[in-house]
Amino acid sequence: MKMHVSVIGGGMIVHDQILPSLYQLKRAGKIGHITVCARRKETLDSLKANERIRRAFPEQDFTATTASYHEVLGNAAERNLAIIALPDQIHFNAVMTAIDAQQHVICVKPLVQKIQHAAVIEKAARERQLFVGIEYHKRFDDRALMARDRYRSGRFGELRLGTARLFEKWYYRHSNFQNWFSLENSDAFTYIGCHYVDLVHFITGLLPVSVSVAGVPERFPNGTEAWMWTDARVKWSNGGLLNVQNALGYPEQGPGSNTQGMTLWTSAGDAGGFLNHIDSHRGLEYCYVDGGYSEPSPDYMQFVPNHLGPGERVVGYGYRSIEALVDSALSVERDADQQSVIEAQGIVATPGNSSYNELVTEAARLSLENDGREVLIQYGTLPFVHLKSYL
Ligand SMILES: NC(=O)c1ccc[n+]([C@@H]2O[C@H](COP(=O)([O-])OP(=O)(O)OC[C@H]3O[C@@H](n4cnc5c(N)ncnc54)[C@H](O)[C@@H]3O)[C@@H](O)[C@H]2O)c1
Repeated sequence: MKMHVSVIGGGMIVHDQILPSLYQLKRAGKIGHITVCARRKETLDSLKANERIRRAFPEQDFTATTASYHEVLGNAAERNLAIIALPDQIHFNAVMTAIDAQQHVICVKPLVQKIQHAAVIEKAARERQLFVGIEYHKRFDDRALMARDRYRSGRFGELRLGTARLFEKWYYRHSNFQNWFSLENSDAFTYIGCHYVDLVHFITGLLPVSVSVAGVPERFPNGTEAWMWTDARVKWSNGGLLNVQNALGYPEQGPGSNTQGMTLWTSAGDAGGFLNHIDSHRGLEYCYVDGGYSEPSPDYMQFVPNHLGPGERVVGYGYRSIEALVDSALSVERDADQQSVIEAQGIVATPGNSSYNELVTEAARLSLENDGREVLIQYGTLPFVHLKSYL
């Protein structure tokens, strides 16, 4: 069985991670035809003509369409796969359109910005025995899986304090982000902070119980105002605290494609522990003869020579994450009972096993609008968030 794949959106994440991964899966015979839908023809033309991707996958291609995603998904044969790679604030409509069209779904993070939307998606997919997975690729960085194993076997004790940081490069301000990353749609924490919040749960199993986020707005070159810099505090179910700083603000001249990392301070009885992940500088230092200096990550997505034929292949946790999600969709299509196995395993994020992310996003947006006031997360049959009252 091979699923055909409709990719909705043709922006940066499709170029950097999704399309090369899909080409590799197609080469391996795991998926069938690939269609990419975007609003602008130029987006699709430049994706198709991209020299790096063509060199690696000279035999691969996709069908490009500027038709609306409603049309593309409506015309897709039932029980195939849709990958939603659109701006954050339109994920809900696109995911629901895909589910209505009987497609399994992979959605880039954050799935949606409201917990109620996640619940609607989960129910609709379950009724149709469709898989919905959320692409949190950091989970497939081997260091996260190692930490999860060691934390959950008790070797670190309990999280007490943590600090995490992910700053994207300055050039993001000159990209298509200008057209959607405005104050009312997203912010640096919602966009990338969610990765480390998700990782802390993934490693520790703890649940976030309160969030406060303050931001510093700045304008894109086109004048759109955005929460470019954010500072968040997340409180966890054991009382532990995590600080997360995010920005579209890492200087162009800085080495590597971003700066990121996480330190968790822990304790058990009379002993302290810690876990420190330096996620941007992974040990590589390249000094080029043209004067350039770089610290590339070998671990997210890299093109390396193909040992089995022409072109190249992609390696890294970016690829492994897409592969795991595609494998999950295939396994649910073969046997609907696999859904509960995947949910329980907790390695692949689904609306059912990672909805704390939607609660954190909803709480963060509310906190930002209220100048960093603490927002509490209430779990239960109908989870919700609300501003903490100090009365
Ligand atoms: N680290 C990560 O996990 C990561 C990294 C980058 C992006 N993302 C997520 O991926 C999503 C897209 O981000 P990006 O960086 O690719 O953004 P982008 O701005 O580069 O691309 C967005 C794409 O969506 C298309 N689009 C917008 N509205 C559309 C519509 N109605 N129909 C069809 N196409 C439409 C645009 O034409 C563009 O091709 C966001 O949700 C973002 O948070 C995740």
